[in-house]
Amino acid sequence: MGNTVIEIMERRKSVRTYEPTPISEAAHGAVMDYLAQEENLRGPFGGKVKVEWMWADGGAAEGKSVKLGTYGVIKNPQAYLVGAVQNGKTALLEFGYIFHKLILYATGLGLGTCWIGGTFSRKSFSREMELAPGEIIPCITPLGYPREKQRLLDSTVRFIAKSDQRKPWEELFYDGEFGRALTREAAGKLDVPLEMFRQGPSASNKQPWRAVVSQDQRHVHFYLQSTPNYSGNKLGFEMQRIDMGIAACSFELACRELGISGVWTMEDPKLNVPSPLTEYMLSYKLE
Ligand SMILES: Cc1cc2nc3c(=O)[nH]c(=O)nc-3n(C[C@H](O)[C@H](O)[C@H](O)COP(=O)(O)O)c2cc1C
Repeated sequence: MGNTVIEIMERRKSVRTYEPTPISEAAHGAVMDYLAQEENLRGPFGGKVKVEWMWADGGAAEGKSVKLGTYGVIKNPQAYLVGAVQNGKTALLEFGYIFHKLILYATGLGLGTCWIGGTFSRKSFSREMELAPGEIIPCITPLGYPREKQRLLDSTVRFIAKSDQRKPWEELFYDGEFGRALTREAAGKLDVPLEMFRQGPSASNKQPWRAVVSQDQRHVHFYLQSTPNYSGNKLGFEMQRIDMGIAACSFELACRELGISGVWTMEDPKLNVPSPLTEYMLSYKLE
């Protein structure tokens, strides 16, 4: 589409109302080619996910609404991308990372998407999905062309989830240690990658992620700040681990586009954390 990844990330938002127009062969083919490349389904720690394209049942009948996941109603979806992964701490993180990259790829093709988390069975779709023992379907996305004028219901969901709001920098990013806020000015070249991290989607827009940039700015440590009693974490898997993977994906893609190279590690710097709900997840080590 001739867009940069940063532009695609800035443009992406959850689309819950689609045009009844079928998805073009070109867009379908491009997504299938993407899925056929094994490296696109592998995470930064070697984890793998399975993703399948499912056409929506009943074709493109105008007016068709589907209740999916934990909240929100999707109108006129033309297809779904359905993801499956082992249910585990790192596996869910990698799922978020891999599936978000795919969502951004689809966005770049002009398709609308919406992360939908919930409990899906392998029989939830037009075609049965084969699952290995221990594998779950934590999230899917509908696909289709976004309807320009979004439904009233869409804006209600956006309003309830406060979708258009993100927490301010000082609540999310820290300088050397928790408690010392990192300003955008002090973030230097990490400004845009951190901003892309902040703009990323999360379940119910809870934004359960924090980052501490080391004082020499050679490491960025990412933490999960779990939301107390969040229903999304009680579905038999911890949804907010997926949010963390999404944030890591946004951060890395922005870094790469800006020529900031680095590698992912899991080496806990053992910083003092502000709450028992703050859990170290992963770090980006700049090279
Ligand atoms: C893991 C995950 C699960 C989500 N589950 C749902 C869902 O079940 N229903 C829904 O309508 N939106 C769902 N969303 C979309 C969020 O509400 C949305 O991303 C957030 O409000 C921010 O809005 P934006 O995507 O437009 O930036 C989910 C998002 C994520 C990341």
